[in-house]
Amino acid sequence: MSETTIETRDHIGIIRLNRPDKLNALNTTLMTQVIEALEQFDRDNNIRCMLLAGDQRAFAAGADINEMADATMIEMHHRNMFGRWDRIKKIRKPIVAAVSGYALGGGCELMMCCDIVVASETARFGQPEVNLAIIPGAGGTQRLTRAIGKARAMDLILTGRMITADEALAMGLVSRVVPAEQWFDAALQLCQELCEKAPMALQAGKDAVNSAFETTLTEGIEVEKKLFYMLFATDDQTEGMRAFVEKRKPVFVGR
Ligand code: HXC
Repeated sequence: MSETTIETRDHIGIIRLNRPDKLNALNTTLMTQVIEALEQFDRDNNIRCMLLAGDQRAFAAGADINEMADATMIEMHHRNMFGRWDRIKKIRKPIVAAVSGYALGGGCELMMCCDIVVASETARFGQPEVNLAIIPGAGGTQRLTRAIGKARAMDLILTGRMITADEALAMGLVSRVVPAEQWFDAALQLCQELCEKAPMALQAGKDAVNSAFETTLTEGIEVEKKLFYMLFATDDQTEGMRAFVEKRKPVFVGR
């Protein structure tokens, strides 16, 4: 059975989590489908960005607790359920997350793997794993700390409390909060805007920003410089600057 719905609209690859009766809890099948769809869209030359969404009640309420409840340490080790999550980091095109309702535990971690988050004013975020006597396991302790700083990450991870969309915005966990009824359309519109940009510039921008988390400042600036120079090998750079000079709208072709 499909735990996701996958579609394309123009140059946007849309992946929707589809376990509404379980608040889109992330079981193995669902995560496999999400990651394979992201990789497929990343390879598809027609696709320029991706949209990852749940439904109105939940983006995802975490990893599927039923799948883990009876597991032993050795089983968890062999299952290596987070091994496949590392593949999300390798996706080069931008991923926009559209979040309404709960983004908890693995749901919040999946959201943090995305590049821009559009949140409904109803969204609720948290890392409640401590209430199950575990900790986040798909990057939450690392990505949340980098996103909002140690003091706030400790507060959320050690108490397991949920925060509102406005708190998440103030903390820098999300960059846009929209009225409840616009949560999906606003994210789709953002994707449409991204599709009008030069694809190589989007990918280079994503790559350069992500380098900030992996390198020293000096190394990161080197990465940025190389990517900047690289873009001068693209037809789109020529078109972008020529269109500016000629006072017209550029048309980018992704070369
Ligand atoms: C499996 C889940 C689930 C989850 C909800 N459901 N969250 N099933 N795993 N993470 C199921 C419920 O069992 C229920 O199924 C249905 O979804 C609706 O949930 P309710 O609890 O009835 O809804 P509500 O009362 O509105 O409460 C919503 C909620 C609560 C506050 C979000 O469901 C909740 O606390 N969920 C667990 C959140 C959590 O602890 N997440 C972290 C998981 S660990 P039935 O069949 O009874 O109707 C994790 C580790 C990350 O994420 C590791 C990396 C991936």
